[in-house]
Amino acid sequence: MAERTVTVTDNTTGKVVELPVLEGTNGPRTIDIGKLYKNLGYFTYDPGFVSTASCDSQITYIDGEQGLLRYRGYPIEQLAEHSTFLEVCYLLLHGELPNKDKFDAFENRLKTHTLLDEKMRRFYLGFHNNSHPMAMMVATVGAMSAFYHDQIDVHDATSRETAAYRLIAKVPTMAAWVYKYTVGQPFIYPDNRFDYVTNFLYMMFGLPPVNYRPSPSFVRAMDLILILHADHEQNASTSTVRLAGSSGANPYAALSAGISSLWGPAHGGANEAVINMLEDIVQSDKDVNYYIERAKDKQSQFRLMGFGHRVYKNYDPRAKIIREVCHQLLGELGEDNPNRPLFDTAMELEQIALEDDYFIQRKLYPNVDFYSGIILRAMGIPLNMFTVIFALARTVGWISHWKEHMSDPQARIGRPRQLYTGEDQRNYVHIDERD
Ligand code: SDX
Repeated sequence: MAERTVTVTDNTTGKVVELPVLEGTNGPRTIDIGKLYKNLGYFTYDPGFVSTASCDSQITYIDGEQGLLRYRGYPIEQLAEHSTFLEVCYLLLHGELPNKDKFDAFENRLKTHTLLDEKMRRFYLGFHNNSHPMAMMVATVGAMSAFYHDQIDVHDATSRETAAYRLIAKVPTMAAWVYKYTVGQPFIYPDNRFDYVTNFLYMMFGLPPVNYRPSPSFVRAMDLILILHADHEQNASTSTVRLAGSSGANPYAALSAGISSLWGPAHGGANEAVINMLEDIVQSDKDVNYYIERAKDKQSQFRLMGFGHRVYKNYDPRAKIIREVCHQLLGELGEDNPNRPLFDTAMELEQIALEDDYFIQRKLYPNVDFYSGIILRAMGIPLNMFTVIFALARTVGWISHWKEHMSDPQARIGRPRQLYTGEDQRNYVHIDERD
């Protein structure tokens, strides 16, 4: 088939350039602008990358108009219903669902990496007890480069795979220890008798004198949260990991950069921000409509946290799945449950926003963070651990994208250009002659 191209004509010079159109498996075609600057002398301009594909990838597909999300082609609805987070980790990392032998080998290999170097315990002791867990995650995941840096050859496939397994296996231990440190409880070591998610909850909520075992429903709810947050195409934190890794930086440092980006309230920090917003509403003497109006007021910096999405202009499919769990949970909560006012406020907010023109016109729907915050709260997860759990889930997505980028022989360092709007050239003036 003839190569599809688009023609760009510079109306001031009459210069014309043909740019190839690239077509993927699903989703919009892309215009390969690689030669635009060389042939026409222009950069493209797209702050926030609203219309820019930064790479090609085979990992996750999102359709924002239809509200679709697929990991390696499998719809999130099917994975949420039939799979487990650890199986999804294998799928994202290796591209296929594993047979029983491959899954068992994967799980057993991860179990050989769940411990941290014992000297890493000292990193935690340097923090204030009231440090935000995400600050500790940024630091400790980055610090892994101090322990494994010399063992990683980012250009060697086996070395990349070992780094991926180490991160997927150790991040639950690090996340649980971050929590233990903030509550002044002893670190609980991983127990390889347990499956991946049970082990995480055991390390988080276990106590030496208590024979703690998380309930199956608690494990299943956490497993679902992790599946839904495992990957999401080229979001801000994944793009950060790809850009950091593109310089050849080691994956531990690249993931630490990704955790930093995820922490922002516009991104993964939104689940924590949703609860803070709901608590403010519950405790204020204003009703929900007051906050809806503030969110619509351009003079106000206030936004409805948990609403809107750069890509989804339909319901976030993850939000649909988790919304059901949320509503089931609310049904089970007694009227006297301390979280009841918060959850009722969330449902009222959801109802009003979905019927309000401002939100409808801008296609602002509740996103995954709106409901995940409520679920995590109901599960008794401490508020400052919400984004840590998001980071735990997204570790497999980040490292899969890093691995995909580093495995690409065409991979180059990412180095965007800019539209310079600063001062034109001017000459130095000695300090004695300045105003
Ligand atoms: C995640 O990218 C991913 O895939 C992320 C993620 C993942 O899995 O990795 O899905 C996870 O980060 C989900 C998003 C969590 N963030 C929030 O819930 C924070 C609240 N939402 C927003 O701040 C906002 O919606 C973003 C950041 C999510 C998206 O911002 P965009 O795409 O830059 O949209 P925008 O700011 O240009 O908004 C378009 C319009 C604006 O109004 P107008 O200028 O057109 O009049 O919608 C308005 C915005 O003011 N708007 C909101 C709003 N979100 C957008 N108004 C009120 N409340 C909001 N939440």
